[in-house]
Amino acid sequence: MPFRSKIKKMAAWGGSLLLTGLAVLITVTIGWRPVLGARSRSLSDRQFERTAARLERGKYLVNGVVLCFDCHAQAIKDFDAVGPGEAPQLTKFGSGRVMYDDGKMRLVAPNITPDRETGAGTWSDDQFARAIREGIGHDGRALFPLMPYEDFRRLSDEDLASIIVYIRSLEPVRNVLPKTQVPFPLSRLINNVPQPVREAVVAQDDSPVERGKYLAEVAHCANCHTPKDKFGKPLPGMAFAGGEAFGPKVRSANITPDASGISYYDEQLFLKTLRTGRVGARPLFAPMPWWFFQNMTDQDLKDIFAYLKTVKPVQNRVDNWEANQNSAHEKHGGV
Ligand code: HEC
Ligand code: HEC
Repeated sequence: MPFRSKIKKMAAWGGSLLLTGLAVLITVTIGWRPVLGARSRSLSDRQFERTAARLERGKYLVNGVVLCFDCHAQAIKDFDAVGPGEAPQLTKFGSGRVMYDDGKMRLVAPNITPDRETGAGTWSDDQFARAIREGIGHDGRALFPLMPYEDFRRLSDEDLASIIVYIRSLEPVRNVLPKTQVPFPLSRLINNVPQPVREAVVAQDDSPVERGKYLAEVAHCANCHTPKDKFGKPLPGMAFAGGEAFGPKVRSANITPDASGISYYDEQLFLKTLRTGRVGARPLFAPMPWWFFQNMTDQDLKDIFAYLKTVKPVQNRVDNWEANQNSAHEKHGGV
């Protein structure tokens, strides 16, 4: 696949989601959506009330949990050049960047700051809401699933409103970006991915484990840490077992409570790992976005840990250091 060489050039974690997205599309060549257009609901004129509580909650979620600015920001240093244990240098939050461009296909995380000319200043709250959870852009187009709207489908209505209130309060940043360009037939196949949300979504938050499960979904832990088949479907029985490839060098870790996973972690080590990007002396490779997760509260991190302790232990040994030293990664890379 020509992708293998190109993938390195991309923001590391977007890379994996991109491959996932492409694979999903290849499975769905049958069906009418490519012809009929994406499933989409019409826009409402709802407006989310700008409350201080929402502003604060949105700021917390965006900067600590849901990772918007991992993609919708400019990278001073290529993700490629970010060494283990180092945080990438991101700036101009909200203003977006070109995430992938091979001459035929270009994927751009757009400017979502309130700049009226180059950003999202003229979009409505419901245009934001529909894009984030349902995968339909402000212009009615099916969004390429590198934008992780499939993870965001689970966002509660209140958290969604909070994120939008916060994003719309950012300083406008002028940043002219080219448009996303998806070649045919992919451009049609992505019509299969968006799904309207028509029912109220309420967070299940009665216990630490339920809260942790919710966070593990909207913070993309489940997405990155669950290996997928070549069609982008999560492998059955492998939830959180790791091994998903991020470019040629790095695969996600097994975070199930198996001996080959993180059974040896206690809560303190878990918090420290997610805050420092290091497991003891071992630095983590860049796709693991600890530089956002370090802003999570102790309570949220503890809830995620409580949930991870309840998932099925799966035996799957992933060792990125060994793979890098032997250059044996092609053997398990599996992209
Ligand atoms: C992994 C990277 C990534 C993350 C994380 C991400 N986005 Fe996106 N987003 C994209 C890309 C790429 C597109 C453009 C897709 C396209 O053009 O088909 C996009 C599109 C959008 C759009 C639609 C723009 C339009 O044209 O209507 C909105 C709104 C948006 N993102 C908001 C967010 C918010 C808010 C978050 C966090 C809650 C977020 N995104 C997280 C990559 C990302
Ligand atoms: C964008 C993809 C991505 C996301 C999102 C992500 N991870 Fe990771 N994570 C990785 C990768 C890749 C590694 C392997 C890094 C390495 O081996 O150096 C990793 C490593 C880890 C480790 C270290 C395990 C060890 O001891 O080797 C833990 C713990 C972890 N992730 C937990 C989480 C949790 C919890 C979340 C959600 C809050 C999460 N990750 C979200 C990609 C991701």
